[in-house]
Amino acid sequence: MSKQFDVVVIGGGPGGYIAAIRAAQLGFNVACIDEWKNAAGGPAPGGTCTNVGCIPSKALLQSSEHFEHATHHFAEHGISTGEVKMDVAKMIGRKDTVVKQNNDGILYLFKKNKVTFFHGRGSFVAAKDGAYEIKVAGKDEEVITAKQVIVATGSSARQLPTAPFDEETILSNDGALRVGAVPKKLGVIGSGVIGLEMGSVWRRLGAEVTILEAMPTFLGAADESVAKEALKLFTKQGLKIELGVKIGDIKSGKKGVSIAYTSAKGEAQTLDVDKLIVSIGRVPNTVGLNPESVGLKLDERGAIVVDDECRTNLPGVWAVGDVVRGPMLAHKAEEEGVAVAERIAGQHGHVNFATIPWVIYTSPEIAWVGKTEQQLKAEGVAYKAGQFPFLANGRARALGDTSGFVKFLADAKTDEILGVHIIGPMASELISEAVVAMEFKASAEDIARICHAHPSLSEATKEAALAVDKRTLNF
Ligand code: FAD
Ligand code: NAI
Repeated sequence: MSKQFDVVVIGGGPGGYIAAIRAAQLGFNVACIDEWKNAAGGPAPGGTCTNVGCIPSKALLQSSEHFEHATHHFAEHGISTGEVKMDVAKMIGRKDTVVKQNNDGILYLFKKNKVTFFHGRGSFVAAKDGAYEIKVAGKDEEVITAKQVIVATGSSARQLPTAPFDEETILSNDGALRVGAVPKKLGVIGSGVIGLEMGSVWRRLGAEVTILEAMPTFLGAADESVAKEALKLFTKQGLKIELGVKIGDIKSGKKGVSIAYTSAKGEAQTLDVDKLIVSIGRVPNTVGLNPESVGLKLDERGAIVVDDECRTNLPGVWAVGDVVRGPMLAHKAEEEGVAVAERIAGQHGHVNFATIPWVIYTSPEIAWVGKTEQQLKAEGVAYKAGQFPFLANGRARALGDTSGFVKFLADAKTDEILGVHIIGPMASELISEAVVAMEFKASAEDIARICHAHPSLSEATKEAALAVDKRTLNF
């Protein structure tokens, strides 16, 4: 007889492992299946985020930022060094250690919460007597059964049909995180989040980086003023960003990659680079899941079709994270995982899609929550805007990092905060205050009246809230 569980989670990324833990906390007998393998072939739960996404990219961003500080900014503080060298193998090794700490942490959490972990690929076999049979294909093949199944199989990098990933010269996010030596010339296709983060890593370490972007506008999802500032700052740092291009033939050989493209002006161009990162978005992972066996509905992109509450077309089958609609963000996947576990327990799990923060971990960092100015204009919403530059913030000056600003958008009549946009130091941390404020439906005046520690970067947030009412104190 197959092993029976109350809940089976397929996929152990941030959506899946968090759903499994929450379901176990709620008293269910839970199994989580994940197929990711580490270099030794062992289990490596945590998904894209832990293995080739959020965590390793931030480890490399940190290492490369230290290098840039040492080579460009220490002198301003009176620190002199000898020649500063970067040992790329050591940097990658450190990143791998950070990844392993996170993998091991998740295995520990499974034990602590009594979640049964299966290392292998999970696929639907059949629906029987109100439950689902799931095959685990791995070292030990077995079939397990549950009435409730949460699919959290994530996403993979989209490739250009003409230039498949070989992870040697044409790299996805996976290869981009384990380049063995700093390439002299690095090409990136797509100036989205991965292109900017990974382009920044290798630029800081000395690569000449050119980013080719199809869209005529830069960072279209961000507030226009932030995107404009970011383009100016990244260009000044040395990232070459070409917008509105059309990619043509891509030839890769021993010497590198040659990318033919048409520029925005319609001129035929060629970019020759040692390595090419292709970061043009991601596709949902449903291959191997065998959704047909139970009639699980997918959309034309291959994503699992769900409603607002992550219910699929099948009773008892849920899907969360990158494999469903919505932004492909780890914290969105986690929130959906928690909410689904709570719904299974008959509780009222809820995800507020309007207050999901976005962060781009470049330098300066970019973070936002809520509506952009262009969205409010398009929706015909009457709003007030307030902005405060880090140049006028004491802590930013002491840090030596004064680029960027905080911008508030508030309803013209009620003063309710509709969006907060930050480009500047530690924007990833500063945005939390705005998320909390928006969750509590705060007004800009609420933030302006709250005491913020001095000297801190968060004072720029308070000042931007004051700016909505045109009464900044320090600018
Ligand atoms: P995943 O993390 O993709 O996990 C899915 C898991 O399921 C994987 O382990 C996969 O092997 C497994 N799986 C798939 N099919 C099966 C099957 N049939 N059986 C068993 N297991 C299966 N997001 C942020 O919020 N912040 C960031 O800073 C950030 N940085 C990123 C940087 C990069 C380079 C990339 C690529 C992504 C980044 N993301 C970031 C996005 C984030 O990684 C994803 O949104 C997140 O991992 C989605 O979580 P998930 O659980 O839905 O899927
Ligand atoms: P993306 O959607 O952020 O950016 C892709 C870019 O490629 C877009 O600007 C798009 O216009 C461009 N593009 C698409 N096709 C193209 C073509 N043929 N030629 C030239 N340009 C083309 O996708 P990306 O960077 O691959 O990242 C995938 C997802 O991973 C992100 O959307 C995000 O959800 C997640 N992520 C999140 C991070 C974070 O939260 N800090 C960091 C990295 C990734």
